Amino acid sequence: MLLEVEDLHVHYYTKRGVVKAVEGVSFNLDRSEVMGIVGESGSGKSTLGLAIMNLVPSPGKIVKGSVKLDGKDLTKMSEKELKEIRGKEIAMVFQDPMTSLDPLMRIGDHIVEAIMAHEKISKEEAKKRALELLDEVGISKDRFNDYPHQLSGGMRQRVMIAMAVSLNPKLIIADEPTTALDVIVQDQIMDLFSRLRKEFGIAIILISHDLALELEVADKIAVMYASWLMELSNASDIAREPLHPYTKELLKAIPNVELEDQELLSIPGSPPDLHEPPPGCRFNPRCLNKMPICEEKEPPAKIVSGRFVKCWLYGR
Ligand SMILES: Nc1ncnc2c1ncn2[C@@H]1O[C@H](COP(=O)(O)OP(=O)(O)O)[C@@H](O)[C@H]1O
Ligand SMILES: [Mg+2]
Repeated sequence: MLLEVEDLHVHYYTKRGVVKAVEGVSFNLDRSEVMGIVGESGSGKSTLGLAIMNLVPSPGKIVKGSVKLDGKDLTKMSEKELKEIRGKEIAMVFQDPMTSLDPLMRIGDHIVEAIMAHEKISKEEAKKRALELLDEVGISKDRFNDYPHQLSGGMRQRVMIAMAVSLNPKLIIADEPTTALDVIVQDQIMDLFSRLRKEFGIAIILISHDLALELEVADKIAVMYASWLMELSNASDIAREPLHPYTKELLKAIPNVELEDQELLSIPGSPPDLHEPPPGCRFNPRCLNKMPICEEKEPPAKIVSGRFVKCWLYGR
């Protein structure tokens, strides 16, 4: 197993009190596997992504649990060991490439620099590799000398992905990588991720609020709500037979492209303020299947036909 996350808890210690942003999350990820993490804004997806790299910013802290990469627990490593891992084994891709790219530096040089930061090779060799990588992510080699502003948003994201791949990582964590891009470019980037996992065996964690997007590439999908992992299943099972009432709502909210003039559905209500989550199940105020116990007690984590679900519907 490449990655084993067990009973992970992350808290932010804010002036208004403690925000429990990730609570009791566990999952495994194999080599070349793609996992989606989906949920509305504020559900703890980004915090979970950062926690996997042991990179939760202050005032946040991993308070419990473990994150094992090839059996080694990142939560117990020194800053020096972590730097090695982050530079080589895990790479991250974020939503807005413009904030991570130097506007005064040619895109090719960004990749050359990324390569030379972690490999002892000559500039010539690094440049050769950078050109290959550009080609790999679908950017023509003659764009090597372009500056970031000369590229479209989708192309800039490809540059970021090339920089991530240049590290030869075992895992890429992509946090809303295509949220700012149009649907066609989103699909192209998803195709690129599929290819990277096939060709290089890279595992990918794709964080997005967009379940439809995740269903395109992910092997399995983790559904988060208000810092809890609500459901974790194969993508095909999620699409065919979602178990959790929240997953059902997310699926219903996906617009059906075959039906014209369909309004974009959103789930009624909004996620709770994590400073004061509701008692019982955190989804209960919005749940269509609510029972009395849901307002009283936290639902148990259950395995139902090999699938993980945290909901009172599936018994005690
Ligand atoms: N740096 C921070 N300081 C305090 N609270 C934070 C910080 N980052 C995130 N949070 C809180 O943690 C919760 C989860 O946030 P986040 O992980 O960003 O969710 P998502 O990525 O799903 O939108 C939210 O309630 C958010 O307000
Ligand atoms: Mg986020």
